Amino acid sequence: MPSVETIFSPALIQHHLLDDRYAVIIDVLRATTSICYALNEGAKALTPVATPEHCLQYRRQGYLCAAERNGLKLEGFDMGNSPDEFRREKVEGREIAITTTNGTYALLESQQAERIFIGAFVNLDALASFLIRENKDVVLVCAGWKNKVNLEDSLFAGALATCLTNFDCDCDSTLMAKELWLAAESNLSEVIDQSSHAQRFKKLGVDDLPLCLDMNRCPVVPEYIENRIVSLPLQNTGIAE
Ligand code: MLT
Repeated sequence: MPSVETIFSPALIQHHLLDDRYAVIIDVLRATTSICYALNEGAKALTPVATPEHCLQYRRQGYLCAAERNGLKLEGFDMGNSPDEFRREKVEGREIAITTTNGTYALLESQQAERIFIGAFVNLDALASFLIRENKDVVLVCAGWKNKVNLEDSLFAGALATCLTNFDCDCDSTLMAKELWLAAESNLSEVIDQSSHAQRFKKLGVDDLPLCLDMNRCPVVPEYIENRIVSLPLQNTGIAE
């Protein structure tokens, strides 16, 4: 039986084996949610980069450039990191370079993995169905907040691990994440509303929680292939047309 492991922070990646495993990058508020929205709205691909300066270099190739730091859109960029900025009229058919405080960092730190996928509540069922069909060992990589553990990513790890019923979970972090999910799933928005990032959003006037918690809103399976995040074709994912 395949196994599922959970890494609560990128700082812990060094203690886990990613080789020969599928990594799922999780940054519910908001990078992996925004990536799912962008692809579901018809974006061609997203290129995650480490710095705003590197991001801007893609502009001369006709890319849209999205940059966020500390929850805020950076001046001079086309978008920040709100899913609401990745609407069809803006992103359809476009290549997007993106850098965020946590999500793109966690992805770039996970490149040892055999394959890298993107997970959020908006693509939970599509991703779970795909992983069950693939039947490969999976490592859930929570982006957290600046290498600290956060509530929302840990909750999503528990939700996804709970869906992977035919997987072994021989690591306590997955057991903890599943217990967390079991306790919170019936009032998810109230629980996540208490998180440090939701509180940060309130101070910043950011109202993205409804979009980020819109369960299965984006039935896509994004994969990081040759430095770009693309949406796997439906027939490759097992999702019904
Ligand atoms: C992220 O990486 O998603 C950011 O740290 C959080 C945000 O976009 O507010």
